[in-house]
Amino acid sequence: MTDTLTIHTPDDWHLHLRDGAMLRAVAPESARHFARAIIMPNLVPPVVTGADAAAYRDRILSALPEGSGFTPLMTLYLTEDTDPDDLARAHADGLITAVKLYPAGATTNSTSGVRDFEVIRPVLEKMAEIGCPLCVHGEVTDPDIDIFDREAVFIDRVLDPIRRATPGLRVVMEHITTKQGVEYASEGGPDLGATITTHHLVINRNHILSGGIKPHYYCLPVAKREEHRIALRRAAVSGDPTFFLGTDSAPHTDANKLLPCGCAGCFTATNTLSILSHVFEEESALDRLDSFTSINGPKFYRLPANDSTITLKRGDPVAYPARIETDDGPVTVFDPGYPLHWRVVG
Ligand code: NCD
Ligand code: ZN
Repeated sequence: MTDTLTIHTPDDWHLHLRDGAMLRAVAPESARHFARAIIMPNLVPPVVTGADAAAYRDRILSALPEGSGFTPLMTLYLTEDTDPDDLARAHADGLITAVKLYPAGATTNSTSGVRDFEVIRPVLEKMAEIGCPLCVHGEVTDPDIDIFDREAVFIDRVLDPIRRATPGLRVVMEHITTKQGVEYASEGGPDLGATITTHHLVINRNHILSGGIKPHYYCLPVAKREEHRIALRRAAVSGDPTFFLGTDSAPHTDANKLLPCGCAGCFTATNTLSILSHVFEEESALDRLDSFTSINGPKFYRLPANDSTITLKRGDPVAYPARIETDDGPVTVFDPGYPLHWRVVG
């Protein structure tokens, strides 16, 4: 049995670093093992202009440990007021790598998101012209649609029409959670990619709701039935370049998770690579971990893979903190529910 694995240094194509005390606590957790990450712009207020992105990037760089080579790849939060020229300038200057579309009300801090998709058409056309990828939170927000169906309905009602109306637009379906998402992404050609989170490879909806409610497993899009988790695992380990890692590590303090109306988000930055190695080993696909964590993402974003490598080693159970401390309060680290044996050793 393989017990040592060397892969190109991974990148995280969907990460929440927050701001202030939370940023200072969580940035080192990602910087320890990842070379680059696409940074989500859903701060309060959101990152909407090139100037906002530049200022946020500087705050992230100052939160990194001395000597860290971690590169934040910035995004803009698409609103109905986004100026296509400001966006194009920020992209041309290398300030932003992508733009994030949140349907208004779909998830944490998404009130400034898009209500009328017709209004953003000129922005999407500009993005297609300049080759700037659109990262999409793919859930409808219609209260009449069951929360477990919101991704599949979004594909039919919103995503497919947008893609048909905007030829050449490069789209990443973020954190897909359904077999419909896997199928749509795998048939979409080279201009369509999809990220898959660590936690959606591990939990299904029973983990959240059976035997007592588990707020630390609650995230959006919410984990679905087991058949969907299986479809996500097949996609992740397939080697298909469409699929790549976006952890969606989304820290909230325990105080904000453990409320009558608690926040959505799983914090996985600390143990993601140990969990992924476990999953890929279970799927007899350790030889394809590199594609998922380190090769397919850069290929989609038209960036070189990292030159450096990391080595994982299988051994005694890995000790990791149950929670990390921040000046805002503790943040619980995602618990996959089983011991992890793969650790990053170099
Ligand atoms: C994210 C957050 O907390 O910012 N939450 C989550 O459950 N994933 C937002 C998001 O990516 O939907
Ligand atoms: Zn997210």
